[in-house]
Amino acid sequence: MRLILPMPGNEAFGEQLAKAGGFELGRLETRHFPDGESYVRLLSDVVGRPVDVVCSLARPDPGFLSLIFAADAARDLGAAEVNLVAPYLAYMRQDRRFATGEAVTSRPFARLISSSFDRLVTVDPHLHRYPALTALYAIPTRTLHAAPALAEWIAAEVPHPLIIGPDEESEQWVQAVAAAVGAPHVVLSKIRRGDREVEIEFPDLTPWPDRRPVLLDDIASSGRTLIEAARQLQQRGLPPPVCVVVHGIFAGEAFAELSRVSERVVSSDSVLHASNAIRLAPLVAAALQTLESDGPVRRRRREAD
Ligand code: R5P
Repeated sequence: MRLILPMPGNEAFGEQLAKAGGFELGRLETRHFPDGESYVRLLSDVVGRPVDVVCSLARPDPGFLSLIFAADAARDLGAAEVNLVAPYLAYMRQDRRFATGEAVTSRPFARLISSSFDRLVTVDPHLHRYPALTALYAIPTRTLHAAPALAEWIAAEVPHPLIIGPDEESEQWVQAVAAAVGAPHVVLSKIRRGDREVEIEFPDLTPWPDRRPVLLDDIASSGRTLIEAARQLQQRGLPPPVCVVVHGIFAGEAFAELSRVSERVVSSDSVLHASNAIRLAPLVAAALQTLESDGPVRRRRREAD
């Protein structure tokens, strides 16, 4: 039977995943030594079984070494394969060198993950300039889509919506969700001037005077994209929007600021947050049940004790 092994902070998602798929829920212990180095101990039997380490990678840096150590321990202790289930996949946005000398972090990050795990399962990675995860990752990857779950939530909670994507990159999600809900959609145009500075241009929204604006995006990080779009909706005399995001990272005061200019802000539980309203465990569990059909994984050498 598959073993679901949640890293710290991912226990709730891991528990839902195990329940949804009928898998065993495993446990591990992590702590820091007095000098700050990481300690990891697996508390579940991994011998001969597929092990799915669950770790949403929002704010990935502090726990990253523990994640690598957990994968290594599982392999070393005899797991049949060691997979990473990362409902949110980090380091996808620095996908090119925007200024001289910058590290293109999406590439080394993918190399690190590919060297520690056999497979990667994730939800709506921010694929902008890369066509697919296979362009970055050297291991088999499964890309899942939250659009049907988002659409189901909108259909149940928002009467008469107009689905609005804040920038061209959101078009893929906006189109899929609008089609599933049977609602019209528009896509705005965004220019990013800095980490926390965006300019947004609106098309004519007068054809939909009676519709409830739903701002939909894959990620809310600094929140500036959605805050600026919501602010401009208000200036145009439209009602405050419902904001729906796949990955609610909400750095700093982003959530509070966005909530002030929105009717409601909700996210999927790919990143643990107070705004979580859309559960992804059933989607991920279904993928894990058929993972082996993606083909065999590369055999990796176990080190002697
Ligand atoms: C890309 O550009 C994405 O689709 C999001 O719009 C963006 O990552 C949101 O970032 P922020 O919340 O920092 O404006």
